[in-house]
Amino acid sequence: MKAFEFFTPTQIIFGRGCLAQIAEEAKKLGEKTLLVTDKGLMKTGLVDPIIAALKTGDVAFDLWTDIVPNPRDVDIERGAEYARAHGIDSLIAIGGGSSMDTAKAIGALMTNGGVCADWIEGNLKHPIAPLLCVPTTCGTGSEVTHESIVNNTKTLEKDCIWGPENSVTTAMIDSTVIDHLPGSILGSTGMDALTHAVEAYVCKAANPLTNGVALSAIRLISDHILSAVQNHDPESLDAMMAASTLAGIAFGNADVASVHSISEALGGFYDIPHGVANAIFLAPVSRYSLKGAVKRYADVAKTMGISGRGESLEDLASQGVDRMAALADRLEIPKFNAFEQVDPKDFPRLAKTAAKADETEDNPVMMNEQDFIEVMTAVYEGRL
Ligand SMILES: [Fe+2]
Repeated sequence: MKAFEFFTPTQIIFGRGCLAQIAEEAKKLGEKTLLVTDKGLMKTGLVDPIIAALKTGDVAFDLWTDIVPNPRDVDIERGAEYARAHGIDSLIAIGGGSSMDTAKAIGALMTNGGVCADWIEGNLKHPIAPLLCVPTTCGTGSEVTHESIVNNTKTLEKDCIWGPENSVTTAMIDSTVIDHLPGSILGSTGMDALTHAVEAYVCKAANPLTNGVALSAIRLISDHILSAVQNHDPESLDAMMAASTLAGIAFGNADVASVHSISEALGGFYDIPHGVANAIFLAPVSRYSLKGAVKRYADVAKTMGISGRGESLEDLASQGVDRMAALADRLEIPKFNAFEQVDPKDFPRLAKTAAKADETEDNPVMMNEQDFIEVMTAVYEGRL
């Protein structure tokens, strides 16, 4: 067995209604906190009761809402400057991956100084500022991963600030926050979580601890994603929130693979939402990668409830991939060629970015630029 490390320092507080204790938890972090969330979420009213609870609990905080999907380095650097100028010593992030990644990156600059580009080599010197995360989607797992994905506005590529110093102090996971999440967002973020779990399980960096966590996430998502989207019942919503965190722990301690190599290239260049890009490419890239990990993909299929009696591992593995494609269809994930900004002329450039992404090395089969061009073209033409 290969040597491995497993690192999960975040305190996880899970349960419907647990956010009632947020002031108590926030006070453990510091004297004055920056509440990082996005304007869209503010408009939904979801943040209001949290703000009310912080005020009632006498938590000193300023509000920071300059968050964009696919967070940009320049916004993060402004956030850190604001924090330094206003005596901020801790952070609360409310939102999806964009808010949590922005808060982590602001926290990294607060304690390490410099700009985002200084810290993309896993070279953080100090732990980030204390951070409490409240995920409001069931996808990114950012509350338990040690990475912040940042759009580099100079190169239009995605950079990553990472390392054990980049860990969240406390995650409060309360599925009441997704009670009214539109089905389309629940579906695409849920497919992001499924992609994390599948890639963590099939990738070359998997280990026995991440395997157990990844399969547990795959089972929960497979059993509950459709019901969560269609019925918004508390049991399914709880299951999706737990699965998203589990999947984050799995890939945070293993890796993702080539689905993410593509989705991150697309996010940086076209601003396609991360979950949607993953949902589009999960089945095609898995189909392409089957030959490198047939047994592993067969395990995924069995965990998704496909029975394996009398069938070859190849058949099982392939049916698992069909199930992933069917899920994307049932969740009405848009097709790749439905995005008007997508132009096959860009595929060589995107393939170059995908091929050099760190996670590409951990895909079950090696993929070079030409392979990525083939996959993107085949998906664009509806052939894979
Ligand atoms: Fe992801």
